[in-house]
Amino acid sequence: MEKPLLSLQNLKKIFTTRDGVLEALGSVTFDVYPEEFVSIVGPSGCGKTTLLKIIAGLLEQSEGEIIVDRERFDPSREVGFVFQKALFLNWRRVLDNVLLPIEILKLDRKAYLPKARELLALVGLEGFERSYPNELSGGMQQRVSLARALIHDPKVILMDEPFGALDAITREKMNLELLRIWAESKKTVIFITHEINEAVFLSDRVVVLSARPSRMIDALDIDLPRPRTLDIRTSPRFGEYALRVYKMLDI
Ligand SMILES: Nc1ncnc2c1ncn2[C@@H]1O[C@H](COP(=O)(O)OP(=O)(O)OP(=O)(O)O)[C@@H](O)[C@H]1O
Ligand SMILES: [Mg+2]
Repeated sequence: MEKPLLSLQNLKKIFTTRDGVLEALGSVTFDVYPEEFVSIVGPSGCGKTTLLKIIAGLLEQSEGEIIVDRERFDPSREVGFVFQKALFLNWRRVLDNVLLPIEILKLDRKAYLPKARELLALVGLEGFERSYPNELSGGMQQRVSLARALIHDPKVILMDEPFGALDAITREKMNLELLRIWAESKKTVIFITHEINEAVFLSDRVVVLSARPSRMIDALDIDLPRPRTLDIRTSPRFGEYALRVYKMLDI
């Protein structure tokens, strides 16, 4: 069996606040394999963002550990993060926003210019390189975020409800776009969402978290064929998977 890229073992996070201690994350254990698409679903406040931040190294866990296959993956340089709300430097053009991680990592900006243009084309934004972020629609901004998360060729992309603020039609389009890019670029994706159907549609595996104090209820393998098209959502197997997740969440 293949070695996991990341192995999360009994991760726990407790915040100490003015009002006492808050258990944001109960015990979470799962593996992520190379080129896998893993979603995490769970109710609001159960600790999804906390979990993603721990994986990204932005926050430290209280207990448990993350075992990384360091021969294949350097978490300090090979992670791309797509935030829930697109964050940009609004005085910089789209192209310069995409190049931001290159500057942060102190890489050669010039060498990455063609790649930035290529990525903007890949996400369907050819011709908008010189626009400013606030001249774009919400969906277009999310696509810029995605291009930015890919610019330094990270192995792992962490996405925190990236499409939560989008209308249903744009969201469907973004789902298809994301699957296309994921298949083309062979990335490993950890994707957070509230939307059970979205999680089942996109993923190889869905990790289900309970309400706080959260624990991991289960991880469900989604054995649906790829490439996935919208019609798969009407298949009985898709419905069964979604129903299983709903039941795990006691809905
Ligand atoms: N820095 C912090 N200090 C104290 N408590 C925090 C901190 N960050 C998060 N929390 C608490 O931890 C819990 C989990 O927060 P988190 O943002 O991970 O939830 P979430 O599952 O991402 O929710 P949502 O779906 O609404 O985004 C919440 O109760 C929150 O108040
Ligand atoms: Mg969150």
